[in-house]
Amino acid sequence: MTAKIAPSLLSADFSQLEREIRDVESAGADWLHLDVMDGHFVPNITFGPPLVASVRKATQLPLDTHLMISNPSRYVEAFCDAGSDLVSFHIEAEDAPDEVIEKIRGKGCQVGMVVNPETEVATLAPYLDRLDLVLVMSVHPGFGGQSFMPEVLPKIPQLRAMGFQGEIEIDGGISPRTAPRALEAGATVLVAGSAVFGQADRKAAIDALRVAVEAIEEEG
Ligand code: DX5
Ligand code: ZN
Repeated sequence: MTAKIAPSLLSADFSQLEREIRDVESAGADWLHLDVMDGHFVPNITFGPPLVASVRKATQLPLDTHLMISNPSRYVEAFCDAGSDLVSFHIEAEDAPDEVIEKIRGKGCQVGMVVNPETEVATLAPYLDRLDLVLVMSVHPGFGGQSFMPEVLPKIPQLRAMGFQGEIEIDGGISPRTAPRALEAGATVLVAGSAVFGQADRKAAIDALRVAVEAIEEEG
């Protein structure tokens, strides 16, 4: 499958949100990645369901909501109702993932689970058959613009060896320089914050990532 490019709104200009979103939509983004932070699970705060609902009105792109929050069980339904297409939560944040998976699915959203750099993918084994996506963090969550951690890449073939057939998304430090390594490892969705919204020319930024995707496809 052709890898998708999911710009992260975290690095956008929030005073120009509609224009920012249209900009990456017309530049060829496949999904829009929404980073929700609560100042508790991670040391930063971003936005909640009302902003997701506003974004929903501004674009047709699939909304890929990445919850970096404690107690996701309490909030996942609100993020589905706000118009997310896919909601992902961290295994480190939840004692009862089964319940959260059920809640997201019950709202008709796709379901993802996320592993921090220090978390083994083996912890996801009981849930994999019910997930549409696994998000492998390639930075410690909380901030855009951090350096890519290549040591997480073996998790991608490990997930395939465990029989996981869904999307494998990689998030953190993805750029035209690091994307080829993630794609070679088997990532199917590339999140990019500073490498897209942090660039003046978003079309050129997405094209540069697309070149990496196409190069890997030709190899494969
Ligand atoms: C980090 C977020 C990422 C972030 C990526 O906690 O989950 O989605 O926006 O930003 P870059 O691409 O700049 O590393
Ligand atoms: Zn993210």
